[in-house]
Amino acid sequence: IHAWRRKRRSIAFQRKPLLLRRMSQACRDRLVRTPTVIVMVGLPARGKTYISKKLARYLHWIGIKTKVFNVGEYRRDAVKVYEGKDFFDPDNAEAVAVRNICAQQALEDMCSFLSDEGEVAIFDATNTTCERRRLIHDYCTQTFCFRVFFVESICDSQEIIEANIKEVKLKSPDYKQMPATAAVDDFLSRIALYEKCYEPIDDKVKEKNYSFIKLFNCGERFLVHKIGGHIQSRVVYFLMNIHVLPRTIYITRHGESELNMQQRIGGDPPLSVRGRVYADALAQYVAKGNQNFLFLIKSVNRDYILENIPDLIVWTSQMQRTIQTAAKINAPKEQWKALNEINAGICEGLTYLEIAERFPEEFASRDQSKYFYRYPGGESYQDLVARLEPVIMELERAENVLVVCHQAVARCILAYFLDKNADDLPYTKVPLHTLIKLTPLAYGCKLEYVPLHVDAANTHRDKPQNCQLNRTLEHAIGEFMATADEQHNNEGIQNEVFYCGTTYSPEIRNDNQQFCDLQEHDSNENAVLSDIDSSIRN
Ligand code: F6P
Repeated sequence: IHAWRRKRRSIAFQRKPLLLRRMSQACRDRLVRTPTVIVMVGLPARGKTYISKKLARYLHWIGIKTKVFNVGEYRRDAVKVYEGKDFFDPDNAEAVAVRNICAQQALEDMCSFLSDEGEVAIFDATNTTCERRRLIHDYCTQTFCFRVFFVESICDSQEIIEANIKEVKLKSPDYKQMPATAAVDDFLSRIALYEKCYEPIDDKVKEKNYSFIKLFNCGERFLVHKIGGHIQSRVVYFLMNIHVLPRTIYITRHGESELNMQQRIGGDPPLSVRGRVYADALAQYVAKGNQNFLFLIKSVNRDYILENIPDLIVWTSQMQRTIQTAAKINAPKEQWKALNEINAGICEGLTYLEIAERFPEEFASRDQSKYFYRYPGGESYQDLVARLEPVIMELERAENVLVVCHQAVARCILAYFLDKNADDLPYTKVPLHTLIKLTPLAYGCKLEYVPLHVDAANTHRDKPQNCQLNRTLEHAIGEFMATADEQHNNEGIQNEVFYCGTTYSPEIRNDNQQFCDLQEHDSNENAVLSDIDSSIRN
C-alpha cells in the first residue's frame, strides 16, 4: 500500500500546482459552472455501482462530462490479493487505514477531474457513516466549491440482495479463486460487518442540510430532500424512472423505402417491394408461437428462432415507412413524433452525390464533425439526442418494446445503451432489414443483430479519409458509391452477439462473440447459479 501510495503521490505532486490554481479558478467560476459530486451511500449489494454506471451513461449521453470513481477499484489496485471478509472489519485498524487511504486517493482524483474538464463525478463507495459523509461534503464544498448530492440506496428485500450477489458480486476479481458457495458466505459476512457501523442519512437532524435522494428497494419508494440545480433535478427524474426488471428492447429501422432504393435521404416515402417483404417477416418474427412461419423458416434453413415476447408494445415514428413496417405486428402500437428521422433541411430528398455536388461546403463540414453539424434548416445529431430524451426516459420505464425507427434515430438510441461517444455515434452501423436486440445486464448490455434475410440497399456511409473542402467529388463520395449496392448481392450480416459496458465477468467481453458460444456460457452459468441459490438460502 505504501509503494502504491508513493507512486500515486508522485503523480499527484506533479499535478499539484496546477490543481491548486484550478481550485481557486473553480471557486471563481462557481456562478458560471459548478461541478456536481454525486456521492453514493449504502451497504454492499444495494446496487450502488449499477446506479453509478447507469447514471454516468445517461449524463454522458446528454452531453455532460461524467466519470465514476469507484473506491473498490482503488482498493483492488492497492491490495492485489483479497484475503477475505476480515479486511472489512471496522475493528481491523490496519485494513481501515488502507481503506481510508484508497478513499482519499479516489476523492483527490475526483476533485482533480472536476477542476479540469469534468462536470459531474460519481463517488461510488459505501460511505455508510455520518462522519465519512461530512468529510466528503466539506472537502468538496469548502475546498472546491462543488455541489454535493447524496444518493442512498436502501434495500431490505432479500430477493433483490440475493440477485445482486449472484449477478454481480460473484464475478468480482475478489472471488476469482474462491468456490462460489464460499464466496457467497464471505460476501454475506462482509455485509454484516458494514451493518455494524451503518448510519443511514439522517434527514431530521445531523444531515438535514444536505441535498439527497433515498431510494428504497430499487425504486419502490423515494425520499427527495433539498434538490438544488438542474443537474440534481435531472438525476432525480432519471432515478425515478429506471427499473431493474429483466426485459429486451428491440430496435429496427423501417423496411427499405422507395427513396432508399434511389439512395435519397429524408422525405416521407412508402416502402419498396422488398421493404414490404421485411414488414411481413418482422411481423412473423415477433408473432408469438406462429407455428406455420416456424415451419417456413426451418424449411428454408434460416438460422434464427422466433421470439416469444410477452406484453410487447411497438413504437413507430410518424412517417409512413415505419408505420407500414409495423402494420402487421399483432401488438399495441404508439406513434412518436420524436422518433421521426433527422431533418436534413435543404438536403432532404437528395442523394449524397447530389449534396456533394450542390453543397460541397456543407457536405465537407458534416464529414468533419458529423455529430455537431446541423443541416441548414434542419437538425444535427446533437439536436436529435435532445429530441429523443423523452423517448429514452420512457424506454427506461417500459418493459419489452420494439422501436421501429430510422437510421440516425436508431444510432442515437443505441449510443445511449452502448455508451458511445459523439465521434462514433453517427457512424454506428444499423443495416436495413436487421433486428437489433438489446438486453440490459448488470453493468452493461447484450447486443444481438438478427438479420431477417431480406435484401435491401446499403445506406451506410463511413467517415471518408479526406474531409477537406478542397477534396475531389470522388474522394467525397467514392467509397460510399462502391458499397451502396452491397446488400443486394449477399446474404446480409450474420447473427452476431456483442457484450458492451464494463463488468467484472471475464467471459463478458467487448469483442464479437458467436451466438453458440454465448448459449454455452449461459447454460454453464445457470448450473452454477442454482448451487448458489441454495447456499444463500441456507
Ligand atoms: O438514408 C437513409 C437515412 O435515414 C436518411 O433519411 C437520413 O438523412 C440518413 O439516413 C441519416 O444517416 P447519415 O447521418 O449517415 O446521413
